[in-house]
Amino acid sequence: MSHIIVETRDRVQRIEIARADKKNALTQDMYRAMREALAAADADAQVRAILIHGARDCFTAGNDLKDFLERKPGDGPAESFRFISALPTVAKPLIAAVGGPAVGVGTTMLLHCDLVYASPAARFQMPFVPLGVVPEASSSLLLPMIAGYQRAAELLMLGQPFAAEKALAAGFVTEIVPEDRLLEHAAASAKAVAALPPASVRHTKALMKRPLLAAIKAQMEEEGRIFAERLQSGEAKEAMTAFFEKRKPDFSRF
Ligand code: COA
Repeated sequence: MSHIIVETRDRVQRIEIARADKKNALTQDMYRAMREALAAADADAQVRAILIHGARDCFTAGNDLKDFLERKPGDGPAESFRFISALPTVAKPLIAAVGGPAVGVGTTMLLHCDLVYASPAARFQMPFVPLGVVPEASSSLLLPMIAGYQRAAELLMLGQPFAAEKALAAGFVTEIVPEDRLLEHAAASAKAVAALPPASVRHTKALMKRPLLAAIKAQMEEEGRIFAERLQSGEAKEAMTAFFEKRKPDFSRF
């Protein structure tokens, strides 16, 4: 069964993350399906905006931690890396609706979206340091730019969960919307942008994104190199094993 549901209606392509029993944690197959959906949206003249969402009470718990634990040194580029690398080059407007947990890539992918709607119950987190790895998706470049260095340092170095109000103040959430209207509101916004002159919309996005594209790509590669190294570290193994053993990690021996 596919955990990514893709559907196009009213010139909006909807990508739904649907793996409820694992809090929408993303497997390599799910990343591939999302990357293919983004490419298909860009290639289809009928699609004018893309809406990404999870369930009302959970966006995504981020990368599947089992998958992280199973990666071996020398494994080729992961689908997760191919997905995040595709994000900055998406030509059409990307709109996200976030309710509940948005962990790891669940938060960092939002830095590449054009409009981000969150419910008051949205809970963001970039727990890369607590997991013994480093930020990805160019968040180490984009978040300090969007939020300011000290705000970004708090969110990326401590890696603790934070609420929608804080994400709004950090600058990567467009608007907080009541939970029962979240998806409807984000869909209406996607439909509104889809009704505008499509080439003007695409050029406007490209003009805003262009100055940073090369820097984003370079930062992602550097993050990816260090991330892959850190994934093999004792610190990361301890952090991720502790999650599945439902205990606190112990980093005292490192
Ligand atoms: N990878 C794999 N499985 C995950 C997962 C992940 N990232 N996140 C949640 N799950 C699984 C849990 O192992 C659990 O499975 P089980 O029912 O077989 O035990 C199930 O999803 C429910 O998770 P649980 O932790 O009980 O839900 P919760 O509502 O108490 O908490 C989260 C939700 C998202 C806050 C919590 O699951 C979490 O912190 N997950 C890890 C997030 C993370 O570190 N992601 C990587 C970012 S780089």
